[in-house]
Amino acid sequence: MNIADKSVLMQASNGSRTFLLHSADALLADRLDRALASLGVVISRAGDVADLIREVGLLGPDAVLLAFDTPDQQIAHHAAKQLAELYPSLALIGVGNPTESAMHAALKAGVAEFIDIGNLAEAATIASDTLNNYDGQSRQTGCPMIALVGARQGMGTSSISAELALRIKAHLGDQEVLLMDCGAPVRDCSLYLGVEPDLDMLGAIQNIARFDQVMMKTAFARHERNLAILPLPAQALDRADIATTEALRLFRILRSYFKAVVVDLGCAPDPQLAQHLIRNASLVLLVCEQGISGLKTSLEYLGQLESGGIGTGGWRAVINRHVDERTVSAAHLAHRLGLPIAATLPYDAVALNDAQSLGKPLPAQNRWARAVDALALKLLDEIGLKPVNPQPDKLAHRLSRLFVRSDAS
Ligand SMILES: Nc1ncnc2c1ncn2[C@@H]1O[C@H](COP(=O)(O)OP(=O)(O)OP(=O)(O)O)[C@@H](O)[C@H]1O
Ligand SMILES: [Mg+2]
Repeated sequence: MNIADKSVLMQASNGSRTFLLHSADALLADRLDRALASLGVVISRAGDVADLIREVGLLGPDAVLLAFDTPDQQIAHHAAKQLAELYPSLALIGVGNPTESAMHAALKAGVAEFIDIGNLAEAATIASDTLNNYDGQSRQTGCPMIALVGARQGMGTSSISAELALRIKAHLGDQEVLLMDCGAPVRDCSLYLGVEPDLDMLGAIQNIARFDQVMMKTAFARHERNLAILPLPAQALDRADIATTEALRLFRILRSYFKAVVVDLGCAPDPQLAQHLIRNASLVLLVCEQGISGLKTSLEYLGQLESGGIGTGGWRAVINRHVDERTVSAAHLAHRLGLPIAATLPYDAVALNDAQSLGKPLPAQNRWARAVDALALKLLDEIGLKPVNPQPDKLAHRLSRLFVRSDAS
């Protein structure tokens, strides 16, 4: 099954726990589902380990149940090792008959607990205790990641992602920041920043074994202000070659090296990758342009995600192309979207188009750029990263107030 099978995913999103069983045994799935009914639902998946890992990325289960009866032991071992590497805070529970060989295999694979399928009366207690142990652990795997999404093209997602990443980089000084250019049309962020990256996501995946500290410093395209940029491949055929499992491994490595990652997912061409990134982002910002058509498309988009099992309750709205005088106000949009406003960014077609056409950053005093800068500072605070040198901004602010006062007098 994939994400399109909404009925199962809706079941999984009703607030109860989701257990993902890796097995083709429908009877076992049914028995476990009944045994764990007080905690949530058991969803089973057959298929190879790569399929399982992709499902974990899409479904975000609370625990994965791995079948350790022969002949599945090798597969369960392999799955446990890969899941532990990619999702270190995910609970892994062995299931099967507690034979010596199954218990030995489960122990070697490093699962947290084992459910005896001959004595399922204990299953709920074992699963509940295991989940309690995992609940205290942080789900974050690596540095903070800020994802920007837009319900359709033209909302401004790429413009904001590019500027936001530049501003975050400026505030973090020498600390490394990565902009992942994953929206469609592809590579808009790179275009707006005047950068033509050689290394794309497929190239990075193919070179993953060689990624060390030196390569992290040298492999990525860099904006002149030292922001690292990694785009999707320009060609659709190359994009199709990106295996989700490999992409997830790459993201983990990237998030362990960089201090912050900003990702443009505006109309992302690969929905599976986008959903994984959305689920794993520290913050998700929905970019919505001011106006009734932006609102309508955004509401439809939020509805689709919710019915696909992706919670959007923690998201924030960024209202773009904002003009004070308009009847459909930012507050009205936020109310209808059911999301708090993270920022309201003014309409400024001339400045944005000029800067983007030349691939140059906007002047620091530009109104839109200042609003994005304020958003960058707010988000840094929320994700717990301190600007390296807040003094100049404060000084500039005091000076600008001084000038306003002396102008007025
Ligand atoms: N606040 C704004 N005021 C005026 N024009 C804007 C504003 N934000 C973005 N634009 C312009 O809108 C166009 C689309 O912006 P952008 O590329 O960022 O949108 P998108 O959501 O990524 O969609 P797409 O990728 O299809 O272009 C660009 O020409 C950009 O200059
Ligand atoms: Mg875009």
